[in-house]
Amino acid sequence: MLRRVFVALLVGYFGCFCDDLPSFIHVCHKEDPQLEQCLMASVEDIRPFLVEGVPEYNLPQMEPLILKDLFSEEASGMKITVSNVSAWGCTDFFVRNIEVNMDTHEFTLYIDLPKLRIEAHYHVDGKIVLVPVKGDGNLEANITDAHAKAQLKGDLYEKGGDQYLKYNTFDLHVDVGGGSVRLENLFNGDKVLLGMINDVVNKNFDAFVKELMPVIEKGLACKFKETANAIVETFTYSQLFPH
Ligand SMILES: *[C@@H]1O[C@H](CO)[C@@H](O)[C@H](O)[C@H]1NC(C)=O
Ligand SMILES: *[C@@H]1O[C@H](CO)[C@@H](O)[C@H](O)[C@H]1NC(C)=O
Repeated sequence: MLRRVFVALLVGYFGCFCDDLPSFIHVCHKEDPQLEQCLMASVEDIRPFLVEGVPEYNLPQMEPLILKDLFSEEASGMKITVSNVSAWGCTDFFVRNIEVNMDTHEFTLYIDLPKLRIEAHYHVDGKIVLVPVKGDGNLEANITDAHAKAQLKGDLYEKGGDQYLKYNTFDLHVDVGGGSVRLENLFNGDKVLLGMINDVVNKNFDAFVKELMPVIEKGLACKFKETANAIVETFTYSQLFPH
């Protein structure tokens, strides 16, 4: 009898302990010989919660992902500024691989994004594939078969006697498979010129994406870092990665 009460208490205690973590946190043990698989599963588990976000835990909504900041990039004689970016499809990712170094808190994620749709406001001044272009307007792009490599580096810090993880570096590189883009409003809406420039841009989609991508990467990396930190800042390091 006493033994049963003791077991019940124990279960109650640990049950309660587990309840400290919300269901989107999938705990991985530091010494798990299959740590990479566990981490991949934990990233997959968070995915549905990212669609609409979890306000109680500061998890932002990611469908659509909205980047309010302005990003500017100067490359190959062209200055492109992109603002007010909305992206759909970021949560339809597939984690292909994870590399981890628990001693230095470095994580490298290889992620496939089958389809991304982007709407944004752009301003260009310069040349796109030798054609002089200056103006601004709305841009819509469909990007297919993107492969992303995200490198996160975290550091531990102390708060109230407990250790917490914070990601200080988040580098993102995205390779794009293909896609199409439509620029609107350029040349005061002159349909002939606009048709020509859209033709040129789409025939040279790779070059165009090469100009645009660093701008988008910066914005996405900033947003993902915020999200990753929102996930880890609420829990102690030993809650997230117990022995
Ligand atoms: C930003 O985009 C949203 C949705 O596409 C639109 O409603 C809003 O007017 C835009 N804001 C600016 C400053 O362009
Ligand atoms: C992107 O795809 C959507 C449907 O999936 C389509 O309606 C839209 O016209 C496409 N935009 C471009 C720029 O190709």
